[in-house]
Amino acid sequence: MTARADDVAPRDDASELIALLTPTGRDGAVAMRVLADAGLAAVACPDMPALCALVSDGAGIGAMLIAEEALGPHSSKMLLRVLGEQAPWSDVPVVVLTAEGELSRAIPRALEELASHANVTLLERPVRVATIVTVMRSALRARRRQYDVRDHLVERKDLLERERAARRQAEEANHAKSEFLAMMSHELRTPLNAIGGYAQLMEMGLRGPITPEQREDLERIERSQRHLLGLINDVLNFAKLEAGRVQFFIARVSMNELLLGVEALVLPQLHAKGLRYVDAGDCGTMAVHADEEKARQVLINLLSNSIKFTPAGGEVRVRCVEDEARVHITVSDSGVGIPPDRLDAIFEPFVQVDRGLTSRQEGTGLGLAISRDLARHMGGDLTATSTAGVGSNFTLSLPRG
Ligand SMILES: Nc1ncnc2c1ncn2[C@@H]1O[C@H](COP(=O)(O)OP(=O)(O)OP(=O)(O)O)[C@@H](O)[C@H]1O
Ligand SMILES: [Mg+2]
Repeated sequence: MTARADDVAPRDDASELIALLTPTGRDGAVAMRVLADAGLAAVACPDMPALCALVSDGAGIGAMLIAEEALGPHSSKMLLRVLGEQAPWSDVPVVVLTAEGELSRAIPRALEELASHANVTLLERPVRVATIVTVMRSALRARRRQYDVRDHLVERKDLLERERAARRQAEEANHAKSEFLAMMSHELRTPLNAIGGYAQLMEMGLRGPITPEQREDLERIERSQRHLLGLINDVLNFAKLEAGRVQFFIARVSMNELLLGVEALVLPQLHAKGLRYVDAGDCGTMAVHADEEKARQVLINLLSNSIKFTPAGGEVRVRCVEDEARVHITVSDSGVGIPPDRLDAIFEPFVQVDRGLTSRQEGTGLGLAISRDLARHMGGDLTATSTAGVGSNFTLSLPRG
């Protein structure tokens, strides 16, 4: 019994289908019956082009059963070419029924080539029915695994593509957000500067005499104006940093110089709050590769946080250690600390630890996000450890100078 190659079983069964190529009609009929009795689906192909069409057709097949007589040099080359063009996951099992007795020289050579380049099992005739059935079953089983791999690959590709698209969308949204923030903060600064300027003019009496109450009000206006301007500047800086619009001037900076500048700025706040300050006496000779202004900004942010979140009587300490690649500057405090599950989040923009309304501190929640971005742009990093109620350690790591 023969069937045309395109009369194949439904596509979803293709992975279970055995394609037969047996030039003598009797062989084909017997094989079909044996396989059918074993519950295996088979289709007989009239010639090699029909068999090859089954392999290259997207539907695919489960395995092939070929009689050696069908493997002349020409057909064998054709089959090898089609097998060589299979997808990377695919390696169709080919079972060849070799002839008994003497063989012509051309056929074994072709067979040998096929056997060394494809997934070939040779069955010598006469073959027992049980052998043929078991061999075909295990060929189909191996083939099923290949289809599983294919499904897995397709699934992975889909996932990867979906993930890429999501990331692209998130990046675009993030970029749009940064652009929006940069534009808004810029637009807000102009009127805010005008508010400050006019309040000052009035306070100076340039618009006529003012009463002491009016002066106090004007001072309040100015204080609020400065506060708001500070927040907006933070947002603007952060947006600029995110949009990659900040320039870095990297040079060798001595730790001594860096820390002296920072301490001069924060000592008044430390004293005002009654905090003990232990300086980093041990980093005099160290140096980093950094943008001095930006490294200073990070350290000021860290020290201001420590001052803000440490109750009077507490301690703030700076220490430096270096390893082969980096200098690590740690700002530690004996303050309120940070719950472990918030340690990552505080580096995100606008995130502040919720400590209830009564102990709410001022700020935008941008200091650490800006600081970590700055540190990373300089080839360093900013990390934190903390024990709630005991204190926190923030470490700025920068490349050694
Ligand atoms: N040394 C610290 N001790 C305890 N909590 C801290 C410390 N440093 C930071 N935090 C927590 O991390 C949050 C984020 O800090 P970040 O510096 O980014 O923002 P902020 O200080 O609240 O505002 P900003 O710095 O923008 O003025 C803080 O609100 C605080 O809850
Ligand atoms: Mg801060």
